[in-house]
Amino acid sequence: MGFFSKDIKTLDDLFIHTLRDIYYAEKQIEKSLPKMIGKATDPLLKAGFEKHLTQTKGHIERVEQVFELLGVKAKTVNCPAIDGILEEADEVSGDVDDKDVLDAALIASAQAVEHYEMTRYGTLIAWARQLGRSDCANVLAKNLKQGQATDRKLTEIAETRINLQAA
Ligand SMILES: [Fe+2]
Ligand SMILES: [Fe+2]
Repeated sequence: MGFFSKDIKTLDDLFIHTLRDIYYAEKQIEKSLPKMIGKATDPLLKAGFEKHLTQTKGHIERVEQVFELLGVKAKTVNCPAIDGILEEADEVSGDVDDKDVLDAALIASAQAVEHYEMTRYGTLIAWARQLGRSDCANVLAKNLKQGQATDRKLTEIAETRINLQAA
């Protein structure tokens, strides 16, 4: 069912493919966050990750809502990009000894995850609008907004605490 079997013919197909991609990505993020929560030392960072986990569950529900609006079965398609980001996060954090530097590594990884989400939601929203599905765009926009807010919050935590402690 990959791109190379040429089963994506229209923008509608591509939209659904990408929706399945972010559905997979959100589920992988949900699975990996408890590990990141466990590794984080700074209480604000830990709390931020916990909030992200709660939000991620909401993101999954909203993506399912979009599948429902489209009358399409909620299904995932492998996303090697998010697998790579999460794998790298795990690898790097496993190589960091100092706990303050580890927090800096974790926050950097978390922001890479947020940015993947943001690029996908941004694209999906634009396509949904183009396809006359502002109902779907509006649901997806809530996930994008939350992702942007989380990203800004992470930047703030990094610049006011984590990077200072790590340096
Ligand atoms: Fe998300
Ligand atoms: Fe992807």
